[in-house]
Amino acid sequence: MKARSLYKLQFLNLAIFLALFSFSYSQDEITGDGGKGYDLFQANCTACHQVDGLLIGPELRNVVTRVKEEGGKGREWLHAWIKDNKALRESGDAYANALYEKYNKQEMLAFPALSEQDIDDILTYTSNPEAGQAAYEEAKKAAADKLAAEKAAKANAGGGVSSGVVIVGFFILAVLLVWILSRLNALVKLTRAQELTSEEEMAAFDFAKFIEKYNTVFKLSLVGLVLLTLFGLFNFMMGIGVDKGYEPEQPIYFSHQVHAGVQGIDCQYCHSSAKYGKVSGIPSPDLCMNCHKTIKEYKGDYYEEHLVESGKFASADDVKAFYTGEIQKMYKAIGWDPATNQYTGEQRGIEWVRIHNMPDFVYFSHAQHVVAGEKAILKAIADGTIPNAEELNLPQNSQVCFACHGDVSKMDEVKMANQFTMGWCIECHRTTEVDMSNEYNSQYYAELHEKLKKEYGDGAKITVDAIGGLECGKCHY
Ligand code: HEC
Ligand code: HEC
Ligand code: HEC
Ligand code: HEC
Ligand code: HEC
Ligand code: HEC
Repeated sequence: MKARSLYKLQFLNLAIFLALFSFSYSQDEITGDGGKGYDLFQANCTACHQVDGLLIGPELRNVVTRVKEEGGKGREWLHAWIKDNKALRESGDAYANALYEKYNKQEMLAFPALSEQDIDDILTYTSNPEAGQAAYEEAKKAAADKLAAEKAAKANAGGGVSSGVVIVGFFILAVLLVWILSRLNALVKLTRAQELTSEEEMAAFDFAKFIEKYNTVFKLSLVGLVLLTLFGLFNFMMGIGVDKGYEPEQPIYFSHQVHAGVQGIDCQYCHSSAKYGKVSGIPSPDLCMNCHKTIKEYKGDYYEEHLVESGKFASADDVKAFYTGEIQKMYKAIGWDPATNQYTGEQRGIEWVRIHNMPDFVYFSHAQHVVAGEKAILKAIADGTIPNAEELNLPQNSQVCFACHGDVSKMDEVKMANQFTMGWCIECHRTTEVDMSNEYNSQYYAELHEKLKKEYGDGAKITVDAIGGLECGKCHY
C-alpha cells in the first residue's frame, strides 16, 4: 500500500513537472532559426524597421528583452502584436496602445500569413542579428552551390545527346584507325618478305580489294565523324553561359517600371556611359539624389498588384509604404538625413548586384550597338527579325536597349531577357541589316560597300556578318 502511494505521488510530481515545463516552454522560450529570421525580416519588416536605429517603426535589436522590461510582456504578446497589432490594440491591451501613441499613431502592417515558427525565427534574429545574417548567408551559399551543381548536371545531361554521339564517334574512329594501321603494318611486312606464300598473297589481295570496294564508305564515315565532332564542339560553345531569367535580389528595391516606365525617365539619363564606351554602368548614388533630395515618399498611383494578390502585402497602401521605406533605405545607404536635408557623412554605398556579365575574353561595346547600330537595331525590332523576337514581344516605340535587354520599362526588377551566348550575338549579326547611311559605317566600309554592291547588286541587304561581325577577333581579345 505504502509503496504504491509513493509511486503515485512520484507520478504526479513527474506530470506536474512535465506540464510546467511544457507550459513555460511554449510561453516564453523563443527558439527559432535566426538565418530564416533574417530572410523573413528582410522581406517583411525592413520597409519600416531596422535592427539599429529608428525608421518608421522602432529599432528591433533585442526587442524581446525590451518588451519584457518595459511592458512585462513575453512571447505571446509579441506574436499577437506581429500577427495583428490592430486587433491587439482594440482588445484594450494597454501596452500596445501606449506603443501606438508613442510612435505617433503610425500603423504597423498586420502579418496574418506568418506562422508561429516564422515569428519565432524573426525574434531569434533580432536577438542576435549578426549571427542570424551569418547563418542566412551560409545557407544561401550552400543553396547556391547546390543549384550550381544541379545546373552543371543539367547542362551535362542537356549536352548529353551531342556529346554522347561525339564520344561514340571517337570510339568508332579509334577502332577503325587501329584496324587500318594493323592491316597496313601487315602489308608493309608482306612487301619486305622475299617470297610470298600463296596464303599471304591471298590475304594481301583480299585486303586491297576490300579497301577498294569500301573506299567511299571509309571516306564518307571519316568525314561524317569529323563533322559530328565539330558540330558537338560548336553547340557546346554556342550554348555556354546561359543565364536567361537571372534576377538577383537587389539591396534596394529599385523599380525600372516606376522610373523608366511610369516616370518615363530616359534609360541613358541613368546609364549615360552607354553612348560613349564599352559599359553602360550603374548610376552612382549622387545621381539618384538629383531627384530624391525632394522626392522623399512614394505618392504615385502605380503599385505592383501582384504583391497584394500574392498576399505579401495587405493593400495598395502597404505596397506604397514599402516603396517609401525603400527610399528611406537609400538615404541610409547614401548617408542623407531627410529631416535636416543634409549629408550625415555615414555613406555606406549601394552594392547593386551585377546581372549581366560577359567573360573577360569577350569584347562587347555598347557604343557600337547603341550609337552606330541604333538605327539598324530599331529597324530589326520593328521588322521582328531580332533573336527571340516572339517572346520579347516588344512595342513599336521600343528603345534600342530593348532588343537585347527586353522591355525594361515594364520590369520592376531587371532580369536577363535573353540568352547572352555567342550563338545569340551571331544570330543577330546574321539577320540584322547594317545601316550603311550612318557616318561611321559609310566612312569605314566605303570600299567594302562598293565591293559588295558590285557582288550582290545595288539593293542587296548587307548584314552585320558581311562587315566582319562573325570574325572571331571582333568579339574576342
Ligand atoms: C508599415 C510599417 C511597418 C512594417 C512593415 C512593420 N512594422 Fe513593426 N512597427 C511599426 C511601427 C510604426 C511600430 C511602432 C508602434 C506603432 O506605431 O504601432 C512597430 C512596432 C513593432 C514592434 C514593437 C516594438 C517595441 O519596441 O515594442 C515589433 C516587435 C514589431 N514592430 C515587429 C515587426 C516585425 C517582426 C515586422 C515584420 C514582420 C514588422 N514589425 C513590420 C511599423 C511597421
Ligand atoms: C559576335 C561576337 C562573337 C564572335 C564573332 C565570336 N564569338 Fe566566341 N563568344 C562570344 C561571346 C559573347 C562568348 C561568351 C558567351 C558566354 O559567356 O556565354 C563567346 C565564347 C566563346 C568561347 C568560349 C567558350 C567557353 O569555354 O566559355 C570560345 C572558345 C569562342 N567564343 C570561340 C570563338 C571563335 C573560334 C570564333 C570565330 C569563329 C568566335 N568565338 C566568334 C562572341 C563571339
Ligand atoms: C533612374 C535611373 C535609371 C533609369 C532611368 C534606368 N535605369 Fe537601368 N538601372 C538603374 C540601376 C540603379 C540599376 C541597378 C539595379 C538593378 O539592377 O535594378 C540598373 C540596372 C539595369 C540593368 C541591369 C544591369 C546589370 O546589372 O547587368 C539593365 C540591363 C538596365 N538597367 C537597363 C535599363 C534600360 C533599358 C533602361 C530604360 C528603359 C533603364 N535601365 C533605365 C537605374 C536606372
Ligand atoms: C529623374 C528623377 C529620378 C532619379 C534620377 C531617381 N529617381 Fe527614384 N523616383 C523618382 C520618382 C519620380 C519616383 C516616384 C515618386 C512618386 O511617384 O511619388 C521615384 C521612386 C523611387 C523609389 C520607390 C519606388 C521603387 O522604385 O521602389 C525608390 C526606391 C527610388 N526611387 C530609388 C531610386 C534610386 C536608388 C535612384 C538612383 C539609382 C533613383 N531613385 C533615381 C525619380 C527619380
Ligand atoms: C546588342 C545588345 C545590347 C544592346 C542594344 C544594349 N545592351 Fe546593355 N548589355 C549587353 C551586354 C552583352 C551586356 C553585358 C556586357 C558585359 O558584361 O561586358 C550588357 C550590359 C548592360 C548593363 C550592365 C553594366 C554594363 O555596362 O556592363 C547595363 C546597365 C546595360 N547593359 C544597359 C543598357 C542600356 C541602357 C542600353 C540602351 C541604351 C543597352 N544596355 C543596350 C547588350 C546590349
Ligand atoms: C540585336 C542585334 C545584335 C545583337 C544581339 C548583337 N549585336 Fe553586335 N552588332 C549589331 C549591329 C546592327 C552591328 C553593326 C553596327 C554598325 O553599324 O557598325 C553590330 C556590330 C558589332 C561589332 C562590330 C563589328 C564590326 O565589324 O565592326 C561587334 C564587335 C559586335 N557587334 C559584338 C557583339 C557581341 C559580342 C554581341 C553579343 C554579346 C553582339 N554584338 C550582339 C547587332 C547586334
